[in-house]
Order: sequence, then structure tokens, then C-alpha cells
Amino acid sequence: MQRKWWQGAVVYQIYPRSFCDANGDGVGDLAGIIGKLDYLETLGVDAIWLSPVYRSPMDDNGYDISDYQDIAAEFGTLAQMETLIAEAGRRGIRIVMDLVVNHTSDEHPWFVDAKASKDSPYRDFYIWRQPGPDGGPPDDQRSYFGGSAWEYDAASGEYYFHLFSRRQPDLDWENPAVHEAVHRMMNWWLDKGIGGFRMDVIDLIGKEVDKQITADGPCLHGLLRQMHEATLAGRDVVTVGETWSATPEGARLYSDPARRELSMVFSFEHVTQTWDAEHGKWRSRPFELVAFKRVVSRWQAALAEAGWNSLFWSNHDLPRAVSKYGDEGRFRVESAKALATVLHGLRGTPYVYQGEEIGLVNPRFDSIDDYRDIETLNLYRERIAAGETHEAMMAGIRANGRDNARTPMPWDASEHGGFGKAAPWIRPNPDYAEVNVAAALADPDSVFHHYRRLIRLRKDEEALVLGDYRPLLDEHPEVFAYLRTLGGRRLAVVGNLSPRDVELALPAELESARVRCLIAHYDAPQSLSGRLALRPYEAFIVELAPPP
Ligand code: GLC
Ligand code: CA
Repeated sequence: MQRKWWQGAVVYQIYPRSFCDANGDGVGDLAGIIGKLDYLETLGVDAIWLSPVYRSPMDDNGYDISDYQDIAAEFGTLAQMETLIAEAGRRGIRIVMDLVVNHTSDEHPWFVDAKASKDSPYRDFYIWRQPGPDGGPPDDQRSYFGGSAWEYDAASGEYYFHLFSRRQPDLDWENPAVHEAVHRMMNWWLDKGIGGFRMDVIDLIGKEVDKQITADGPCLHGLLRQMHEATLAGRDVVTVGETWSATPEGARLYSDPARRELSMVFSFEHVTQTWDAEHGKWRSRPFELVAFKRVVSRWQAALAEAGWNSLFWSNHDLPRAVSKYGDEGRFRVESAKALATVLHGLRGTPYVYQGEEIGLVNPRFDSIDDYRDIETLNLYRERIAAGETHEAMMAGIRANGRDNARTPMPWDASEHGGFGKAAPWIRPNPDYAEVNVAAALADPDSVFHHYRRLIRLRKDEEALVLGDYRPLLDEHPEVFAYLRTLGGRRLAVVGNLSPRDVELALPAELESARVRCLIAHYDAPQSLSGRLALRPYEAFIVELAPPP
């Protein structure tokens, strides 16, 4: 099979609300993004995954859509969206739209109509059930954002189903009319020249509510194949499904090109490694490299022959990579570079979440009132009511809450970090005077320039794109090391992910009297032999000499 553009691509995720506010109302917007395209071109990314910009009452910051074919007024206009697609295209950057079709907003005309009458043609776009025997909800399924997944509608005496907030009613994917409406909308966007879709919680659309099956339902893959034929077939676009439930074997089903479903999925096994088995994300577990490497290696192996991996540390729902996996204090810069190096060396498509390229860290808000995220606020309320302490909950929120990634992008040292003229909708990181884009651009040793070089390297080294992956030093608690091989070429990726000096006996596979250094952020290695000494968060990629 010929290699696809998105296999060699690096994707940059923009969370529009927090990226750049051009009109000074405190909220990021499309004009702000258009104004920063030159910056993204300098970084060298091939595509932008744009978190939702559609019309929305913003109960979940745009993941609650009331019109799929229009833009939220606070973000801009459809004309600006077209300008963004064209202006990005001129710079070789494609726009990947967020497709949120597990649910709509309760203000979507479909739902408004469905709710108005049981006879509405849209009633069956959603999932309605009679009350349970006791008059309460039909069953005890829970919403991810807290509380019951069922909301009572007094007018009809029925409950509707919502896996997220009550203002995000789930679409009924057992109804073919829903498929048609969604496919039509997708084609409308594709015809505008977008580069593809990131598909929000797509593993939930095959749900069978009455059997309490939500993720990975029996119809899921059939729905995706049908969607592919109706919209994606014959178009050279990328699709990435958000699938919290995916196993490596499942990911292969989604992404094996012969099955005609998706290009790849986002998997989260590496993320949930740092969550408590019982309390989930609200109780954080330390990052353990050996377990982490095992997860990564399993995913790399499972998709080696067919299918494709996505590679990411962070997104708009997760904490900042440096805070979670690196060192946000003394080694902020070094750990950001090391994490980037070992991730971008893997086989798959790397995603960079806005601000990651300058090594942003989690904010540390003292008051719950400084947080804005619906999940954080709902779960705080629910868990405190259930007896959790304020301190424990705040610790969980600071470690894993979604607002960690949603503070305004700091562009320079001016007021509000140059995000916009007005106070932003959420407090900025307190360190914006030092950690900002202007400072990063001016410093050749910055995290930004390291990302720029890494992204460039992927363009120059086909072995980084298509090479086989072979893990090394599996049991080493501090060092992540692996080989990528293609044809006769062997690249070694090595990173010390600890704040300590590390010395180790070199595995035989890494012995090389002479090496060509492709990227390093301490001294460039000239050879690898005998013992290897690594500084705190030192990482590099080198080409080993061909075997004799
Ligand atoms: C996905 C999104 C998240 C959103 C949820 C509901 O997980 O990434 O931000 O809240 O879906 O749409
Ligand atoms: Ca604005």
C-alpha cells in the first residue's frame, strides 16, 4: 500500500476558546487562529485538529452543538471558517474538524422539535424511555459528568438519555435517519475542503441502551464502515476516532485500511495508567515508566502489520504533559524536550496540543471558583456531597482536571499573556511572563525550537515514519529506548525520563562505534559503546552505523 500523507504528518490541536482572542472579548476566536497561522507554519505542522467551533450554548465549551453547519458567534462566522481553511491550505496545513455526533446540544433544532411533541419526526433522533417501575429513571446508568444518564421530561412523561451533561442528549444511532443526517453534514464539510475529522467519543455510537452497553456496541464497526462509504470513500482525508474503550486489538479493527473505517484512533491506556483503579482520574497515581513502556510497546506491536497509531501526551481533556510525566520545576525545559523526543520517535502520527510546544505546565488554582470545566465542577459537587474532602478533590483536579490544559495560550509577556485585550474567560497560568511564545521563539534552545526540529526530522527520515519498532531496556525504570529500522537503516531513540543522572550498560543492539546524531538537546553523541551516561531528561535520536 502506498503511504498516506497523514502517516508522515504531525497534527496540532487547537482549543479555540483558549488559543487567541482577536476581538478582545476574553474568548479565543477564528480571527485569532488565522492570525497565528504563520506561527504554526514555522512550527512545521501539517494539520490542525480544531476542537469544536460550531454554534453552541457552550455548556461543554462547544462539545454541545446546536448547529453543525454554522459557527458560534463568539468564535466568528462561516466566512471566517472558509478563510481559515483557505489560509491554512496556502501554508500546507489542513483543517481537521471535530465531529461530535454521539450527542447534540439540547438547543439543536432536532432536539427542540423532538421535545416539543412525541409525534415530531425528530423524536426518534434521540433516546426516550418510560420511567422505571418506581416512577424514577428507567435504570441506574450514570452520566460521565455526574448524576443519572436519564433526564426527565415532564411534558411527555418520558426520560431522555445523555451520557454527558443533561444539555447533551445522545443521538439514537439505531435510527437510519440519524445516519443520513450526519453523513449529509459530513459531506457538506468535506466539500468545503477540510482535511478530515477527529471523531468525538465515537466508540459510544454503537450503544444498546436497554442492555446497558455503551462503549463498543455490537453495531459500532458496521456504523463506521457505512459512514466511511457514505462520506470518506474516495477522499484523501484523515480520520481519528476518540475511543477510550479501545484495546490494541480493537484499534486494529478501526484502523486496518482494508476494513475501511478510520485512519487511526486515540487510545488512552497510557493515560489511565496514572489514574487510581477505583477512584479514576480524581485520584492520581504516579507515572511509572516500566508499566508505561509496556503499554506503548503493546500498542506499537499490535498495529505493526495493519493499522496505525496516534501518539500524544496531552489534549484539551488531560493535564499538561510536563506536569504529568516530566518535571514542572527545575527540569521543565529538559523534560518537555525529552518527552517530545521519545514520543515523536514512535511509529504513528504525533499530535501536539497547543502550548505543549513551549512546555506549558498545569496552573495551580487555589479556589474551586477558578475552575470552569463542567466535568470538574459537577464531580466536585457530587464527590464532596458523597463525603470526599475538599483537599483530596482539589488534589485530583490539580493533577487530572480538564482545565489544566485550557488556560489561555501565552503569546508574550504583556498583560493576559498577549492572549487578548480583555481578561480571559479562565485565569492564565501565573508564569506567563517567562513561559510564552515570544520568549520561546527568541531562544534557539527553547522547547519550541526542539519541537520544530523534531517535526522537521519526521519529514526527512522515512525510517521515523515507517520503520519497525523494537523496544529495548524494557525493565529499566528511568530510560525509554527503542530502535526504528527501515531497509538497512537503524535509528535509536533514547531518553532518560528522570531528573537524575543515569548510567547503564549499553544493550548490544545499541553498540555503534560511530553514530550520526539526528537530534539531541545535550551534547550530541558521537558513538555508543560500553557504558552510557545520561544527564537528567537527556534524550536523543541517532542513526547507528550499518551492521558490518
Ligand atoms: C470528548 C471530548 C470532551 C467532551 C466529551 C463530550 O471526550 O474530548 O471534551 O466533553 O467528549 O463531547
Ligand atoms: Ca474573541
